[in-house]
Order: sequence, then structure tokens, then C-alpha cells
Amino acid sequence: MNPRRFFRPDFDDLEAYTPVKPLDVLAAEIGLPIGQLVKLDANENLYGAHPAVVEAAAKADHHIYPDPGQTSLRAAIAEYVGVTPGQVVAGSGADDLIDVILRLARPAIAVTASPTFGMYSFLAKVNGTRFVEVPRLAGFQVDVRGLASTVERGAHLIFLTSPNNPTGNCLTRAELEAICNLEALVVVDEAYIEFGGESAVPLIAAHPNLIVIRTFSKWAGLAGLRVGYSVSEPGIAAALMAIKQPYNVNVAGDLAAQAALRHRAEVFETVKCIVAERERLARDVGALGWLRPLPSEANFVLFAVTEGHDAARVAAELRRRGVLIRYYNRPDLANYVRISAGRPEDTGRLLAALREVEPLTRREDS
Ligand SMILES: Cc1ncc(COP(=O)(O)O)c(C=O)c1O
Repeated sequence: MNPRRFFRPDFDDLEAYTPVKPLDVLAAEIGLPIGQLVKLDANENLYGAHPAVVEAAAKADHHIYPDPGQTSLRAAIAEYVGVTPGQVVAGSGADDLIDVILRLARPAIAVTASPTFGMYSFLAKVNGTRFVEVPRLAGFQVDVRGLASTVERGAHLIFLTSPNNPTGNCLTRAELEAICNLEALVVVDEAYIEFGGESAVPLIAAHPNLIVIRTFSKWAGLAGLRVGYSVSEPGIAAALMAIKQPYNVNVAGDLAAQAALRHRAEVFETVKCIVAERERLARDVGALGWLRPLPSEANFVLFAVTEGHDAARVAAELRRRGVLIRYYNRPDLANYVRISAGRPEDTGRLLAALREVEPLTRREDS
């Protein structure tokens, strides 16, 4: 008997998400020791978690279930964001919140401004929601009219990212207000807000259809512990709390996130270093003359690959040398690469590798 006949009928049409791989898997694939890899492909914080955060996570009672009400964590996040605990819901990364919001709304159609983070489209399809991508305009600005007409045609959930991954630019206040006035739930993903841009949180009071999601993965260096959260008006938060998996934040992640907030003054020192490195990355890589940086408010820079070089080859040749960057095999990003801002030594390794691969990465037709 073939058990697949019991699967949902649309299973074969689901497009897999392309996740990034961890260091040990990459090291084995590339054939280099972990210590020689420069991981600039997933916008992680290469300074790692603060020592006090690591210590707090180690003290977790591993044999006791986490608090399904997330009492202390929600209070700590609320104090950080400047809202009430009843407006906050924590999850296993921001990804979990994206999923729970989709399960709460179950819209026939959801929409985003592309190119953007691929998880919205993946999780929408997993949840049986049709996903529409409205292409961004010149300079990767959001096409507000395009989004509005998709809402008129039945999309009741909008995902927007500010700063946007992978383009690095932010929504303007005017764009955001116009979008919040549409007849839809509006999710603004602020995974990178600690690195730049203006938060949408103050708009929640006037726009009860607005949900902001954030994460500890980027600024606090906790990507592996999986802690994210949403901020919304209390009614939405209560509904999300009601349908989330009860134990969706593990005990170590819960304590680590609280410690990161307690030690945020020190953690923000590394955020400052990353922002400075982002500017150096744009300047020094741009100075090579064949990669043009786009302005970024996040912890990465999108580069247009120019002068007859091929983005896929650049990523592949760098990878062979242990330097990981992100290449997207999709038409709207065909000749771009995204590079995360790491530590100064990471930029140094990247620059040396880029100089080495330059002659090897020309397009055949150039
Ligand atoms: C825009 C955006 N949202 C969410 C996430 C995922 O966050 P988390 O690690 O909290 O699931 C990422 C990670 O790359 C991202 O780029």
C-alpha cells in the first residue's frame, strides 16, 4: 500500500523552502574545517550570544515544560517594546508567528511585495492559502496600488518586511499608513529593526489590523534557540495565544531571551559594530568596481553583480573558498547577491576571496 494516498491532495505541488545549512553540514560538504568558514549567508550575528545569555540558557530546568502563558517573557518583551504584556505573543522564532497568524486568519489569498523573505509564501502554501507576490517598483519600493488591488480581489492578509530582506530598504510611514487602511490584516516583519528603520509599533493604536513581528535571532544572536514574538492589539494577541502550540518557546530560549533583554545595553554594542561593518562592507566591496551595493538599514547588503560577472558563479566560487553568501535563483534577483555584515575579520576574508574569484566569475557571453 502506498501511504502517500493519505496525504493532502496538494502535497506534490508544495514548493520546498530553501533553508540555509549549519556550519558542520557546510564544512562536510565543502571539505574545509568549520574554523575556516565565513558564514555570511543567513544574517546571523557572528559575535554570538552575550556570555550572560549563554549562562542563563544553561540554567534552564530541562525536565520541566515551558510556561504556555509565557508570563515572564511576555512581560520582559512588553517592557522592551513599550506595550502591555497582553499585546505580546512569543513563538519559536518569528517563523512560528508567521505560521500561527496564517492559521488564525486562514485567508483564501495572502499577498506580499516581492522580492522578500521566502517564508511567507512557503508557510502560506503549507496552510492552504494561495500566495500572490506583487513585484516591487524601481528601487525595490513597495507597490501600494498593486497591493490595494490584490486586496480588492480577495487577499485579506498582507506580509511586509521592514527593513526588507534581501533588499535592505524600509517602508515609509506614508506607505505603511496607506496599507494599514486596506481591508486586511497587515503583518509588518521587523526582524532587522534593531539595525535601522522606524518601527511600526506606534501605529497599532490607530490600526487594530496591524501585527508587528520581531525576533531575537538577529540582534541578540539567538537564531539557534528560536525565539520571536508578535505585537498587536490585545484581541489579536489573545487569539494567537489561544491557537499557538502551548509549549512553543523552549525553556532555554525563554531564559536566554529574557537575559538578552536584561543585558541589552551590552548586546547593542555588537549591534553597533555590525552596523559599522555593514557600512564598511558596502564601501569596500563596492570599491572593487564590479559589485554595486544597495542602501541597507539591516545587517546585510544586497549587491548588484555588474561588469559581466555572474552572481551564481560568484557565490559558487566563494563557497569553494569557505565564504558563504546568498544567491537567489529567481528572475527578479538574477544578478544580485546578499552578503551579511559580520566582524571586521569576516569582511577581510570576504574581500580577499572576492579579489581571488574575480577572473573566474565572468558570464560566458560577456
Ligand atoms: C524578514 C525575516 N523574518 C523572519 C526571519 C526568521 O526569524 P526567526 O529566526 O525568528 O524565525 C528572518 C530570517 O532570516 C527574516 O529575514
